[in-house]
Amino acid sequence: MSVVGARPNFMKIAPFIRSIEKHNANSDKKIEHLLVHTGQHYDIRMSQKFFDELNIPPADIHLEIGSGTHAEQVGNTMIALEKVIRAHKPDWVIVVGDVNAVCAGSITAKKEHVNLAHIEAGLRSGDITMPEEVNRLVADRLADLLFTPDKISNENLLKEGVPPERIKFVGNIMIDTLENERHKAEKLNPDEIIRENILLQEQKIPQISPLNYIILTLHRPSNVDNKEIFSQIISFIKNEVSEKYPVLWPIHPRARKRLEEFGLWNEIVSFKNVLLLHPLGYHELLRLNMEAKMILTDSGGLQEEATVLGVPCLTLRWNTERPVTLKEYGGASVLVGNNVERIREEFYKTLAEERKPTRPELWDGHTAERIVDILVKYG
Ligand code: UD1
Repeated sequence: MSVVGARPNFMKIAPFIRSIEKHNANSDKKIEHLLVHTGQHYDIRMSQKFFDELNIPPADIHLEIGSGTHAEQVGNTMIALEKVIRAHKPDWVIVVGDVNAVCAGSITAKKEHVNLAHIEAGLRSGDITMPEEVNRLVADRLADLLFTPDKISNENLLKEGVPPERIKFVGNIMIDTLENERHKAEKLNPDEIIRENILLQEQKIPQISPLNYIILTLHRPSNVDNKEIFSQIISFIKNEVSEKYPVLWPIHPRARKRLEEFGLWNEIVSFKNVLLLHPLGYHELLRLNMEAKMILTDSGGLQEEATVLGVPCLTLRWNTERPVTLKEYGGASVLVGNNVERIREEFYKTLAEERKPTRPELWDGHTAERIVDILVKYG
């Protein structure tokens, strides 16, 4: 039984389900799989669109927990999932990534004495104020099998005392999706993507061509929940970034809500060279990222994709749980935090840099197959 809830889970579960189907087509020892959607993300553009694009079968069970505080989301998921686990008695519960479904799924599985596997285990930002770090720590403390995306994650887990036999270095499952889907993304036309996803018809569409536009995404509470920090980032985007290149900003519902609450929305809408887009589908964002001059983001997944695509990436965070994506490890991303001086310095430095795609070990598109093989061995 796999438990997913929020947008970044969907691109990670798709290859896992595909690998189960492949295994079942070639083996007598069939795996029965149930997909549980907690319902944390429910907008079509945050959820169903990804199921459709990535051919994820409809969830077998939908918990419909919706938005709320962390305690509400985790608590409501646990209450609903306990009933589901009791009714279906899975051999394994699988959680992916670091969203609230991971925390709730892990605790509920172990309280019901069910084996637990965590895909994308061992990532550590060291920042316990990040809700995702709490979720990672809980899952990795409880999991029976910990599937890691890189060797730094193995070291993190060993340092925390996780028995080595539980840790399986399998690579990055997001890259399975990137490899499987990139040819579909390549066929899309960037101008059409923009026309189809423009948020406000009154905004003028800037002229874009390869390597002459910037992608911006922001959704971390540390950036968008604080008015002063968010305003400073926005001013920098307006006064400097968009003076150089058009900025395409697919806006996350959380960021939009905060802009409205802070009274900043009307200002954003009036920016000339910053185009607001709806949250984009997987192929759409991948297509735009491929030819972006630079990505400015606080998303972990985008840092990873930027590394494999070779697109220079400024990560608007002070820490990262994904150090292999940083330039010092050969990746494409630089941590710039949310201090404008620091962002400015790296922005101009990065503008002058060449693209350099790199591929950390085992980010080869076959991670899900390795995971399924290991799970089959464990029975
Ligand atoms: C969640 C994950 C985060 C992930 C992000 C990707 C946790 C702790 N956080 O954060 O790790 O990077 O998803 O998007 O699980 N909303 C909608 N429509 C939706 C869902 C949410 O409008 O379909 C709005 C609601 O106002 C909600 C807000 O967005 O309150 C925030 O959503 P929430 O699910 O709490 O967290 P994210 O910020 O999306």
